[in-house]
Amino acid sequence: MSHIFGRSTKGQLPTAVSGDGCYLIDAAGKRYLDGSGGAAVSCLGHSNARVRASLHEQLDQLAFAHTGFFTSEAAELLADRLVAAAPEGIDRVYLVSGGSEAVEASLKLARQYFMEIGQPHRHRVIARRQSYHGNTLGALAAGGNEWRRAQFAPLLVETSHISPCYEYRGRADGESVEAYGLRVAQELETEIQRLGPETVMAFIAEPVVGATAGAVPAVSGYLQRIREICDRHGILLIFDEVIPVGF
Ligand SMILES: Cc1ncc(COP(=O)(O)O)c(C=O)c1O
Repeated sequence: MSHIFGRSTKGQLPTAVSGDGCYLIDAAGKRYLDGSGGAAVSCLGHSNARVRASLHEQLDQLAFAHTGFFTSEAAELLADRLVAAAPEGIDRVYLVSGGSEAVEASLKLARQYFMEIGQPHRHRVIARRQSYHGNTLGALAAGGNEWRRAQFAPLLVETSHISPCYEYRGRADGESVEAYGLRVAQELETEIQRLGPETVMAFIAEPVVGATAGAVPAVSGYLQRIREICDRHGILLIFDEVIPVGF
């Protein structure tokens, strides 16, 4: 009997023993075309030779050094690369080991920021319905997928959820794309006013919605308007790009 506490109690899973590009191979030698690679986790292909070589090389040199006491060449290189690819003005990287942890860290960072600048009253988070920000309690609270949140609702920090920018579902007949984007962005302004602008800490959204809507980008003009609204009220705008980074 397996001692793994699996995602489902029904049935037994095949044992994956190796990977080969876009294929996974089980203990019986059966090959599976891995069309999604998890949520784009294995997007460089399974058992990618360069990735394996780099991992081995790093492991032979150094496996771990506590980040409170040391930096390392690998961490510095990664940070340099990420900053080089980031928009201007972003010159620091906080490294974590997964998406949920990244969202938790960004929310805590936002709170820390307002404590540091003397605005401790800012603590409220606004997010969007039909979004996914991860599975840990803070990230689950930010996420707007009702089915995932429902049974844990009493444990979640209070978060407001406004409409997503989902033109295919939400744009009214006869409404222009631009007017639709501005209408749904306006929900942010309305929610900020309802909560009290001085209490709002951050708005968090996926620029391209991944897990809960399936590669849905915002319409033109929407994100610019969101940025303006956040800036006007001194609210931090957090883009959760965990999925696009994977792609
Ligand atoms: C947008 C987004 N944020 C956060 C997460 C959580 O990432 P992880 O599963 O690494 O905790 C995901 C995972 O799919 C995601 O799509």
